[in-house]
Amino acid sequence: MNGEMGQDILKVLYTEEEIAARVRELGAEMAPKFQDKRPIFISVLRGAFIFMADIVRACQVPCDVEFIAVSSYGDATASSGVVKITHDIQQDISGRHLVVVEDILDSGNTLSFLQQYFLTKGAASVTICTLLDKPERRKKAIHADYVGFAVPDEFVVGYGLDYAQKYRNLPYIGILKPEVYSN
Ligand code: XMP
Ligand code: MG
Repeated sequence: MNGEMGQDILKVLYTEEEIAARVRELGAEMAPKFQDKRPIFISVLRGAFIFMADIVRACQVPCDVEFIAVSSYGDATASSGVVKITHDIQQDISGRHLVVVEDILDSGNTLSFLQQYFLTKGAASVTICTLLDKPERRKKAIHADYVGFAVPDEFVVGYGLDYAQKYRNLPYIGILKPEVYSN
């Protein structure tokens, strides 16, 4: 919690070491399932970019990587419910097994939209791997196949997660002090 960004953090939820250990576990758990499937890992930008880099190295199977960017939040801390694709994947996914890599599952709007989108494009399967889950906030029925950690209903930042594009490069995950976003 040192440094200029660290001063805005109320509490560290998961340290760099705890995240690394959990991501290694998730990757090892996923590997046998995808061994012969040549999955496409699809990272939801921008929040999942750091998790993506770690999970593909923790899951040692031949795979492709893709990136999709969606917007629904702007700089606010609550979802608008409307999901728009601002950058699409670059390859044909029909008949392919996908692993959607997300930073946090909150209302479920983003992932339920993406799951439907990929199934409509002919994916053979869509597996959801989210680093964080805020189950209390769910509005859409969506099941994450792999979850790093469940978190309380607080605004969290770090390890890819932002507030107004800041804090993504904090190596840990922490609760942002409410006064940072309420004024
Ligand atoms: P939904 O509501 O669609 O939300 O499940 C998914 C997206 O919402 C963002 N989100 C957060 N971002 N700290 C963040 O930095 C949070 O506590 C938080 N809660 C939701 C996030 O971008 C995610 O992709
Ligand atoms: Mg975000």
